[in-house]
Amino acid sequence: MPHRLAALLSRRALLRAGGAAVAATALGGTGVAAPAAGALKPGLGGPAPITSTGDLVEVELVAKQRLQRILPEPAEPSPLITYADSFPGPIIRMRKGQRLRATLVNGLDEHTSIHWHGIRLPNLEDGVPYLTQPPTKPGERHVYEFTPPDAGSFFFHPHCNTVELLGRGLAGVLIVEEPDAPKFDADIVCLVKDWILDKSGSFGTFITDRGAARAGTFGSVSTVNGAIDPVIEVPTNGDIRARFYNVDSTRVVDLRVEGAEAWIVAVDGNPLPPRPLDGWPMGPAMRIDVLFRAPAKAGQTLRLTNVYSAEPRPLATFRAVGPALPNKRFKPRALPASAIPEPDLKDAPVIPMAFSATAVAQSFEPAILAGLPYADSLCLSAKTFWAINQQSWPEGGHEHLPPPLVTLEKGRSYIFELANLTPHLHPIHIHGYTFKVLSSDGRKVVPHHADTVLLEPKERLRVAIKADNPGDWMFHCHIIEHQDTGMMGYIRVA
Ligand code: C2O
Ligand code: CU
Repeated sequence: MPHRLAALLSRRALLRAGGAAVAATALGGTGVAAPAAGALKPGLGGPAPITSTGDLVEVELVAKQRLQRILPEPAEPSPLITYADSFPGPIIRMRKGQRLRATLVNGLDEHTSIHWHGIRLPNLEDGVPYLTQPPTKPGERHVYEFTPPDAGSFFFHPHCNTVELLGRGLAGVLIVEEPDAPKFDADIVCLVKDWILDKSGSFGTFITDRGAARAGTFGSVSTVNGAIDPVIEVPTNGDIRARFYNVDSTRVVDLRVEGAEAWIVAVDGNPLPPRPLDGWPMGPAMRIDVLFRAPAKAGQTLRLTNVYSAEPRPLATFRAVGPALPNKRFKPRALPASAIPEPDLKDAPVIPMAFSATAVAQSFEPAILAGLPYADSLCLSAKTFWAINQQSWPEGGHEHLPPPLVTLEKGRSYIFELANLTPHLHPIHIHGYTFKVLSSDGRKVVPHHADTVLLEPKERLRVAIKADNPGDWMFHCHIIEHQDTGMMGYIRVA
């Protein structure tokens, strides 16, 4: 096991795992092939995963600044902020049923927390400062412990000053493997992210009034797994499960694997009947699992491209390596479904949720901000441009927490009608729940489950949940500049 990964594992997990090779073998027995140790180079197909064969997976996540080269020389390495020695990292792979104990160590000079995006977990583990836990101060530690109820491709990130921290790379991958999934020849992770860098490798401004009030501030450099147009090695003629993540703060992508038949088999970690990868735009925080067949001859390549913009943009190359695997006909197989509680639509009240611009950008006096336990200057920009149901975070929260957007009765089902009153896209995310996406007034919706849905300009989209998970759950746009300038609230389930 590479030393840098060993450092990430607590002593106990290390003893249990007995090294990456042993862990990978054990995982092979679960029916999902973890990438063979060493087969994928760090920074290309992702670093070797953190795993454990026991009931408990223990990790220590030290959030701090680390230098990493994104731009080629003569630029300098860039001052990333990460949870592991490099971006992307860490990749935590667990089996469904295993418990995660993750210790955040705050090596930053600001308070922070970890939010586990997409996981239906207990509210206390959700990692939202002031709402579900006190912020973890510089030098402090915070332990999160939960058993993810669903298999899937998830991730984690901070929930204050996210615009800068995520902008500088503070995100990690959490993969929960199905015990009974079909077997693939490789299971790789591709994190799509732009970086706001100048020519010298220094970071630029993460939030601008111009960006925040419109589509957001775009990065200058596109990467996959922190590398510009990397070559990612895949086993020749192998069936590849690729977990595509949009971890950018701003950009919407629509990915293609040019030259291969590719099928979407999961959205935000939730299995769906295989469908061709042929138009599934992903806003920030959205993920898809894609199944494709690697080229039949070693050395042949496929292109990963983003076709969302007018000009398709190449993002990475998959190159076949090694002896050709004796695969038969390529046929996408469905993943075993997650047990997401089914909302009872007949009995479900419709809750309107309107996403709009604030009439006038409101500036909060620093003195008012200081008086809000809920909204310190780290968790909120001093301006608001956006609102949900005309409520801009933290308007109305002058003494204590702002009121929830809505209080739901535990156990009941609800339909949210998400109305986009703006000319911009908004990827809308709910914590602690998985939406059932029902219908739209503007397009044909493929029924699916998701924790983040991309609202098109002027669209009305209906989603449903069964409110079985009590607590205060954040509900916000995942274009981070929108989130930080008002398009954020929370839903109470009691
Ligand atoms: Cu990734 Cu509050 O979200
Ligand atoms: Cu938005």
